[in-house]
Amino acid sequence: MLTTLEIENFRCIEAARLELDLQGTGILGANASGKTSLLEAIYFLGLGRSFRTTVREKLVREGAEYFRVVGRIRTQRGDVTAGIEYRDGTTRARLAGQDVAGMSEVAEALPIQIIDPGVHRLVEEGSARRRRLLDWGVFHVEHDFLGVWRRYQRGLKQRNAALRAGAEARLVGVWEQELVDCAGRLDEARRRYVERLRPYFEEVTRALLGAPANLGYQRGWAGDESLAEALERVRARDDKLRTTTVGPHRADLTFRLGSSLARDRVSRGQQKMLAAALILAQIQVRATLPGEPTCLLLDDPAAELDGENLGKLLGVIRQTPAQLVVTSVSEAGLRGIPIGRVFHVEQGRFRAVE
Ligand SMILES: Nc1ncnc2c1ncn2[C@@H]1O[C@H](COP(=O)(O)OP(=O)(O)OP(=O)(O)O)[C@@H](O)[C@H]1O
Ligand SMILES: [Mg+2]
Repeated sequence: MLTTLEIENFRCIEAARLELDLQGTGILGANASGKTSLLEAIYFLGLGRSFRTTVREKLVREGAEYFRVVGRIRTQRGDVTAGIEYRDGTTRARLAGQDVAGMSEVAEALPIQIIDPGVHRLVEEGSARRRRLLDWGVFHVEHDFLGVWRRYQRGLKQRNAALRAGAEARLVGVWEQELVDCAGRLDEARRRYVERLRPYFEEVTRALLGAPANLGYQRGWAGDESLAEALERVRARDDKLRTTTVGPHRADLTFRLGSSLARDRVSRGQQKMLAAALILAQIQVRATLPGEPTCLLLDDPAAELDGENLGKLLGVIRQTPAQLVVTSVSEAGLRGIPIGRVFHVEQGRFRAVE
């Protein structure tokens, strides 16, 4: 859990220091005051990327040369400091006084999820967001998952490069054994995780949508063949498209309400409820396992929801063990959320409300 946060030159925030509440912190401010920027800074600290842009330069405050986010994290093994800085096109992360290469150590100490007004895209858009969320859950359960996933990505890159170069079949095939080796392990880990997640997802969707939604998992290639067979079968097509069209990098989650796929028949508000259900169910699973609790960022939770649905969502959030950081344009927007401390933000400056 995040106890103290220091931000320099991140978006409109020139300098800020906040003591966060272990249960819930409210952030109140007008439009364009810096509320989402604060959540984005926390997210960047934990995950090394933004949920709004892939262009890091945009995160640097106008006229500044770098940004830095430092957080004091309370873990079960004691307090540690994590920091991340971006300058001259390079991002450097530190944990407990040591440089860290990937973000996985920080992510382990500070698991983060966000429900924001764009969360419905999880249901509406392509599989990449769903896969990333799925893998967030798997990563926090199975610690060797990340290593296998990285090996797979390297192999995939090589096979795609060979396809693009128009290499002969033998050279393309060299990378396939590596893909096949990793794919089985990725698939099994994801499958085990989805099994674990399913009852939680059904329970949460029952509470949010009135009936349990079914969670499906597609591994990224046909069920009746091995990946080796699938790769061979699509070789001609992959040659033409110059990319690998089957494998765990195409895995997906599906949601069914009754007999139809949710994304074909739900409204925007329901999409938000369904997406939030997936995130909250994952946080609940996380909380049953060893490891640190999740810090859940809620950006304007009332957006898109009527009073009844907002009430249901907040009801489930209250039952989900997480440290909350919640933004709203008005005090009414924080009602019903367990908040121990509130800040007002104006033009990127934060002031604790007594
Ligand atoms: N790199 C940057 N440097 C300076 N200001 C920036 C930068 N990037 C964004 N901003 C500004 O930061 C301000 C705050 O944006 P932010 O999205 O945090 O507002 P918000 O409080 O979440 O507003 P809303 O209630 O509309 O969602 C905006 O005016 C935006 O233009
Ligand atoms: Mg905002």
